[in-house]
Amino acid sequence: IKHGTIYEAIGGYETIDRIVTAFYKRVAKHPDLIPIFPDDLSEVAQKQRWFLTQFFGGPRLYEENRGHPMLRRRHLPFPITPTRRDAWLSCMKEALEEAQVEEPYRTVIFEKLTLTANHMMNTPE
Ligand code: HEM
Repeated sequence: IKHGTIYEAIGGYETIDRIVTAFYKRVAKHPDLIPIFPDDLSEVAQKQRWFLTQFFGGPRLYEENRGHPMLRRRHLPFPITPTRRDAWLSCMKEALEEAQVEEPYRTVIFEKLTLTANHMMNTPE
């Protein structure tokens, strides 16, 4: 295991970009997610690149561009049910595979995102 940040260990911004691109490609086709996402996913994808960069120890790009994350609050306008949480996580699991993020980082990243996704749920089925 390399020391330093997960961000550096997985290959920095280039890898974050591959993950996010692979992720929103799946979101765009997922029947449980399409209803709450905008048709044009390019802006949310950019915000996600900023967020994941800083979340995994890279430069604080999200804060520089968007301020404090307050992610749960930013998600309140969207009904996030357990089904949508599962859909989000399944898109992310496949994206981490497509982006060829190696172990143990793939599992560490997925576990951290699972905790965050649980925190984002705001609506029962
Ligand atoms: C924004 C859905 C979990 C990070 C959004 C948006 C939706 C959404 C609908 C707004 C798109 C728009 O701008 O119209 C969901 C669903 C989740 C989930 C269904 C399932 C649990 C997460 C998680 C993270 C995350 C786990 C972080 C790891 C973000 C970020 C934004 C965003 C950074 C942009 C916020 C901003 O600056 O405006 N999400 N999300 N989301 N989501 Fe999620």
